[in-house]
Amino acid sequence: QELKLSLEQIEKGGYEHFMLKEIFEQPKSVHDTMRGRLLVDEGVIKMAGIWDHIEKFKNANRIIIIACGTSWHAGLIGEYLIEEYARIPVEVEYASEFRYRNPIITDKDVVIAISQSGETADTMAALKLAKEKGAFIYGICNVVDSSIARITDAGSYTHAGPEIGVASTKAFTAQLTILTLIAFKLGKHNGNLGNADFMSLIAELEAIPKRIEDVLSSTHELVQNIAKDFVNATNFLYLGRGYNYPAALEGALKLKEISYIHAEGYPAAEMKHGPIALIDENMPIVIIAPKRGHYDKIVSNVQEIKARKGKVIAVVNKGDTQVSAMADYVIEIPETSECFSPIVASVPLQLLAYYIAVYRGANVDQPRNLAKSVTVE
Ligand code: G6P
Repeated sequence: QELKLSLEQIEKGGYEHFMLKEIFEQPKSVHDTMRGRLLVDEGVIKMAGIWDHIEKFKNANRIIIIACGTSWHAGLIGEYLIEEYARIPVEVEYASEFRYRNPIITDKDVVIAISQSGETADTMAALKLAKEKGAFIYGICNVVDSSIARITDAGSYTHAGPEIGVASTKAFTAQLTILTLIAFKLGKHNGNLGNADFMSLIAELEAIPKRIEDVLSSTHELVQNIAKDFVNATNFLYLGRGYNYPAALEGALKLKEISYIHAEGYPAAEMKHGPIALIDENMPIVIIAPKRGHYDKIVSNVQEIKARKGKVIAVVNKGDTQVSAMADYVIEIPETSECFSPIVASVPLQLLAYYIAVYRGANVDQPRNLAKSVTVE
């Protein structure tokens, strides 16, 4: 027993929980995801899985992304990325819905499954169905040689390293990195992403691990302090627009999973169609408001929240003034192109969920009722 305990201590590398260790590993894990693929000097993204089947992607009527949980959130961001840069229509589906609704699938479809474990039963079943109907199936998995990795026609591993904490963190940012690489590669190839834009985007992508490192060091203590004020919260809203709408969903999921506080993510503009009715002085609202990405619209959302006395925790770019002036708590992240902001913004949201859960005395690495890999329906 003692030996087992100390082995676990070693595995945690000095961190109190695997989740915290994995949050802090992200500069490295995102870098590892890009290693050997992103060759900025040569102006090339090397991905054999895509390149060997480039005709399939080029001729695809559409791409369907299927996944569950956090991986589904990554898929939503994948839709924004691939549609913006490669101009290929994308649909994102929960694997569990897709498999049972008699979906229309043809041999002109490319189906991408995203799965950290590569073992999720619903995702696996949805893929089998797509394969039967003749679609080309592609896997984005973290676990090497997992069931999904084995049944797909091709794929890209995320290479984030083993993820032990049940709540996914580094696997999520690795999935976003792969989806970004795929979107840029396809866009460059089909001519929708011009060379100059491609070059500047890939240079920026290469520096994202450094951005994550900056965010970790500049927000860690601050977020810990913010978390203390919300230990007794019973509800949370997370709002974002564009690329950061799925980031809001993921932020809410993290909090829900490990702290057991009810949290909902919403596209900020949908607030007026429901959630606004819940806002009063007891409602904390995390709002993701980077400069690039509908900033002015978010400013008015924050005004509406403050008029109802909601408590605003704002994730903004360094040097922000408008949202910061109204917010109760301000978390600064570096400015990036909009497409990279979910990667950077997710980091303080992971920390926020983590510390709220820790202060509530929850079992962060193994939350009640949840499993790391869901191999049953
Ligand atoms: C479980 C895990 C989540 C994960 C989801 C999908 O619910 O607790 O962290 O996002 O399954 O898992 P997958 O391995 O397919 O990404």
